[in-house]
Amino acid sequence: MERRDFVANLGITLALACTAGLAACGGGGSDNPNPNPAPPGGGNARLSVNLNNELMAVGDAKISGGVILIRTGSGNTSADFAALSSICTHQGCTVSAYNKTSGLIECNAPCGHGSRYATSGAVNTGPAANPLTRYTVTVSGNILTVS
Ligand code: FES
Repeated sequence: MERRDFVANLGITLALACTAGLAACGGGGSDNPNPNPAPPGGGNARLSVNLNNELMAVGDAKISGGVILIRTGSGNTSADFAALSSICTHQGCTVSAYNKTSGLIECNAPCGHGSRYATSGAVNTGPAANPLTRYTVTVSGNILTVS
């Protein structure tokens, strides 16, 4: 193979490799077009909880799968729970806790900056300016599902 042929073949090979590489990466794009994506696996459930052994007392909370789930009442109906996105609307940190004493969801250090939210999702204290997204709670028997 002559040097000229080798260089031409090398160029074609590199062009094909680059094209395949860009396709695999999806061509770039936005950072996070949906901050509250549906859960993996194709179902609608973001979180499921067995009420026989979790969230048994008023004020109990669980943060998992992008959700903060709080027991706000003593019954086992959807009205006895609040489910919200656990992603703080300020800068995207996961909220750190539900404070039973204050009744507020907290976004604290080391990631957060002190924002507080009511169980409705409304901002109580900034710097966050926008509410947390509310999710739907369904209770069937002892199984609670957030969607
Ligand atoms: S990320 Fe929650 S207060 Fe800044």
